[in-house]
Amino acid sequence: MTSSGAVSSGAVSADAVAHEAPGEHVPTPGVPEPVVAERIGMAVVGAGYWGPNLVRNAQQTAALRLHWLCDLDEAKSRRVLGEYSTVRSTTSFEEVLADPRVRAVAIATPAAAHYKLVRAALEAGKHVLVEKPITTSAEEAAELCELAEARGLVLMCDHTFCYTPVVRRIRELVHGGELGDIQFFDSVRINLGLVQPDVDVLWDLAPHDLSILDFVLPPGVEPVGVSAQGADPIGAGRACVAYLTVRLSNGALAHCHVNWLSPTKVRTTMIGGSRRTLVWDDLNPQARLAVHDRGVDLTPPDELTDAIRHQALISYRVGEMVAPALVEQEALRNVMAEFAAAITEGRAPLTDGRSGLRVLRLLHAASRSLELGGATVPVEPTGDVELITAQERATAR
Ligand SMILES: NC(=O)c1ccc[n+]([C@@H]2O[C@H](COP(=O)([O-])OP(=O)(O)OC[C@H]3O[C@@H](n4cnc5c(N)ncnc54)[C@H](O)[C@@H]3O)[C@@H](O)[C@H]2O)c1
Repeated sequence: MTSSGAVSSGAVSADAVAHEAPGEHVPTPGVPEPVVAERIGMAVVGAGYWGPNLVRNAQQTAALRLHWLCDLDEAKSRRVLGEYSTVRSTTSFEEVLADPRVRAVAIATPAAAHYKLVRAALEAGKHVLVEKPITTSAEEAAELCELAEARGLVLMCDHTFCYTPVVRRIRELVHGGELGDIQFFDSVRINLGLVQPDVDVLWDLAPHDLSILDFVLPPGVEPVGVSAQGADPIGAGRACVAYLTVRLSNGALAHCHVNWLSPTKVRTTMIGGSRRTLVWDDLNPQARLAVHDRGVDLTPPDELTDAIRHQALISYRVGEMVAPALVEQEALRNVMAEFAAAITEGRAPLTDGRSGLRVLRLLHAASRSLELGGATVPVEPTGDVELITAQERATAR
């Protein structure tokens, strides 16, 4: 269920990652720095592909002070830290948890190890930032959320894309009503990806789209059912191409296309609303986001005069396109800032454990649907999934 040593093709795109050398805190122009009385001592666990990004960003965050880098392979930690670092390396997670200076832990190990490590950290009274997916089972994720809530600790899931300036702006636009009622969400995340040894393309790539969907959906609109189709045309033993459809509670559809076999890379998301439609093209930094005042209007029948009643009820609106200005910021800097702020302010972070749990439930439902040949699987609040009947499907529409 995780990438395993190889560079995950599900990683946040390079443009979300600033090109800065590792080192001490360097303020980002335009990013307000919190005034910090005492830095939050922390540790990073996992020095593989993604962990070093957490190390660098923790070191560059004024509110945090990195004390430890822990990996089962200490040579990896030493390589990441370099010769002159004051951060200590260890293979013992117990040693990290026993250090009273450590108030927070960031976990970037393969997902199969998340549950045990997160649980131990919470039981030791540490705040936790855990990589996606939060765990490999919804039941375990729910248990971790409850444990964190019961102990008053922050449990945050690193849904990195949610901390990019573009996704934050999209959320503002959707939540602020600029788009009107959400009518569809359509995302394409395809490229020549590394076929992962232990997860299919849905588990590798779709967590990004599903976490973005979860983040931007307006309050009151939520997924109710999932259907997924997958194919393995190269005989890799797992789906390499998948189409995922999420039915939303307001009747709208969200669709994600994820694919490891595409020779061209595409990263686009469209969100259509009753007032406006936005198009996010992550490979076009000059105009990453475009908001179109275009759409289809349906004239209510009682407003039609006899003279035009014979004409179509549908009219097309073709208005302006606006490309909002976006600052360039490394998403992981914002992740670290949010983690520190949530700890300091004693509040839930923007992407808390529950958002990790919601994304996990969608992934489980998608896997179940794949097994069932694409049948719609309801998204149950408990995380349990069962086959939806044709009648229920009709009602859900
Ligand atoms: N947010 C993103 O965009 C993004 C991108 C890539 C990976 N990730 C996530 O980051 C996590 C790690 O992925 P990766 O690609 O870096 O994996 P990786 O295999 O490259 O590295 C994992 C490291 O964890 C270490 N490790 C494993 N079990 C451990 C334990 N019990 N204690 C200490 N160290 C342990 C391994 O030795 C290894 O060095 C995964 O959950 C993955 O999904 C997130």
